[in-house]
Amino acid sequence: MHEISCVRQFRKIGVVGLGYVGLPLAMLAGIKGCDVLGIDLNKQKVATLLSGSSYISDVPDQELQALLSAGNILIQSDYSELSDCDVIVICVPTPLTEWKKPDYSSLIGAVKGIAAVLRQGQLVILESTVAPGITETTVLPLLEAGGQIGGKDFFLAYSPERIDPGNKSSGLHNTAKLAAGLTERCLYYAQQMYQSLGIEVIPVRALAIAEMAKLLENTYRDINIAFINELAQVCHACNINIWEVIDAAASKPFGFQAFYPGPGVGGHCIPVDSVYYSSWARANGYPAKLAEHARLVNAAMPKYLADRISELLQSVGKVLSGSNVLVLGVTYKQNIADLRESPSVELIKELCRRGCNVCFHDPYVSEISLNSAQIERVALDEHVVLRQDCLVLAVAHSAYNFAWLSEVSTLIFDLTNGMARFPQEKIKKL
Ligand SMILES: NC(=O)c1ccc[n+]([C@@H]2O[C@H](COP(=O)([O-])OP(=O)(O)OC[C@H]3O[C@@H](n4cnc5c(N)ncnc54)[C@H](O)[C@@H]3O)[C@@H](O)[C@H]2O)c1
Repeated sequence: MHEISCVRQFRKIGVVGLGYVGLPLAMLAGIKGCDVLGIDLNKQKVATLLSGSSYISDVPDQELQALLSAGNILIQSDYSELSDCDVIVICVPTPLTEWKKPDYSSLIGAVKGIAAVLRQGQLVILESTVAPGITETTVLPLLEAGGQIGGKDFFLAYSPERIDPGNKSSGLHNTAKLAAGLTERCLYYAQQMYQSLGIEVIPVRALAIAEMAKLLENTYRDINIAFINELAQVCHACNINIWEVIDAAASKPFGFQAFYPGPGVGGHCIPVDSVYYSSWARANGYPAKLAEHARLVNAAMPKYLADRISELLQSVGKVLSGSNVLVLGVTYKQNIADLRESPSVELIKELCRRGCNVCFHDPYVSEISLNSAQIERVALDEHVVLRQDCLVLAVAHSAYNFAWLSEVSTLIFDLTNGMARFPQEKIKKL
């Protein structure tokens, strides 16, 4: 790479999509003294943020309120003022369709909206997760539709997000980001932009490398979790304690990373990105059989666990249909309020299909929707627990009092090993 000396100032930053990825970025830019224009099509979210209330647990209300009252951040649904920005960062969702295929409709909508107001000299950075090639073959032509040329009239980069919601030790400020540019200058500007926010950037040579690296990071997790979920089933069938097996293997100081079994894999990233990878591979003539099989294993965990709950109830002379089961934890992971793709919600649906009387408790979630019906959480008190034939600990939120649960319940199925230190026979492990 030859030296590019042009230094740019990024005083006004536009962030399109104010969710788990976009809102923390908009906040960081505001805190660093930039003028921020946050755009979200969801008018209710815009109103909530403008009232000074954040719906992302990693973004405190007080910080949002301080930026709003200082006038550092504007939040709206209208794209027109994006033309005043030095850089526009796209953080819209890239989910799956009903048929479990990549859904680029939000991304395409956002890029068309940006293209309509694109001004010469602007830098556009895509942070949403996409399959290799999308920045160059989908985003670029849409931005160029008005006649401006990428790399010359405007600049385009891809920089996948690595945020881990709820993780207190690793965040935007201390996690290096990959970035790639359409041209060297595009990459150089993207690096300058993130560095001006105090974010370290690891440059990569091509857009497709950065796009693929993001899919590798998350598909790697999906595959390893599927392996351990499968191993948990094999170990159970052979009467071997999977948790002790993992602890033993994890004593190896090199070449092993511990993954843990559970109700499956949730969230907006891992189960989705693995499908973005395997669909893209198949479309290119290479079926990614390992990733596809991993997805099937993880997605089948709720059914497997419903079978195990049925066996547990049978062992105490009860049948699943008509039994009362309380599921503890419905978010996709510990200590956050995110329900997206949550496998424990899938477990609840499976238990309902099998005729079980299921209720739930989660300190972060007051209601869930099951097949269009809203189900409210129950109180976690002795009266409720004593009515249950079985408790299922699906997410080991720190707020749970495991000692109390181990005393008051009659049967617990622990999917998390959160109750490892309680030896009672009535506590059964995945
Ligand atoms: N959540 C994570 O932990 C995480 C981590 C890394 C990468 N990602 C990726 O980042 C992207 C964003 O994810 P997220 O979790 O922030 O999603 P999100 O659903 O929390 O937020 C996206 C926001 O974009 C808004 N939106 C949708 N279409 C829009 C449009 N055309 N214009 C303006 N706003 C629009 C939605 O209303 C929503 O508020 C996805 O591609 C995701 O895969 C997410």
